[in-house]
Amino acid sequence: MLIAQITDPHLRAEGTRLFGVVDTYGALKRAIDHLNASDMIPDAVIVSGDLVHDGEAEDYAALTGLLQQLSAPVFAVPGNHDRREFTRKALAFTGVVPDAGPIRFAADAGPVRLIGLDSLIENQPHGHLGGEQLAWLDDQLAANPDSPTLVFVHHPPFATGIGFMDAIRLDDSDALAAIIGKHGHVGLIACGHVHRMIVSRLGAVPVVIGPGVAHHVVFDLAADAPSRWILEPPAYLLHRWSAETGFVTHQVFFGDYGAAAPFSKHHPRIGTQRQSTNSS
Ligand SMILES: [Fe+2]
Repeated sequence: MLIAQITDPHLRAEGTRLFGVVDTYGALKRAIDHLNASDMIPDAVIVSGDLVHDGEAEDYAALTGLLQQLSAPVFAVPGNHDRREFTRKALAFTGVVPDAGPIRFAADAGPVRLIGLDSLIENQPHGHLGGEQLAWLDDQLAANPDSPTLVFVHHPPFATGIGFMDAIRLDDSDALAAIIGKHGHVGLIACGHVHRMIVSRLGAVPVVIGPGVAHHVVFDLAADAPSRWILEPPAYLLHRWSAETGFVTHQVFFGDYGAAAPFSKHHPRIGTQRQSTNSS
């Protein structure tokens, strides 16, 4: 069971570069093409917010066009850069987005239950789930206690050490932790927002933030670090689930890094050792 996670595409329509530099359209297109061409085709793709950068209608139209190219079912939630009603319309094709209210849902992807949460407060950079949505989450988790569950939400519920991003993280993470802690079948929480792969936990549950699919936040742990972006290698995550292992997360780079080569080509002892042992 493979669930791909793309996060923070910050899409602009084709031909428009974010900050005058970042080809967000090309980045998301390359990620989708890579997933579709992979030998490890995912069973589902989750997109964890900041779907577009400026909340423009033409950007959402481009988003729909690209996400519909995925050969796997798509499940997406908004981030702080999104506008809820535009997002609802853009994601209508997924078939799981409610007609009104928060863009949250629960869906089965094979044996895994996916729960997407809406942490967007429009025109605010930080995230909030709220009591009503947390009560809904509690009900959803209680209704399917035997399903291994992946919860995804844009804003991470922990501090990363990157100060300017921590200032705008999820503001009711303690309340989320209390709900998650009641249900032992949540195996992974997947987030976006920080544009870097970062791992922590919420109570006993692992939390992973996905890398930027277009641009990264600069890695700087200084308390007064300025907010900056950088074009580090774009990537997405693949969450593999099996009954034996639970969730195991891999980071997948989709740029051109040359051909794969066997280790034995550069390390002759690998691959020949058994032969020499047998002949001795
Ligand atoms: Fe973002």
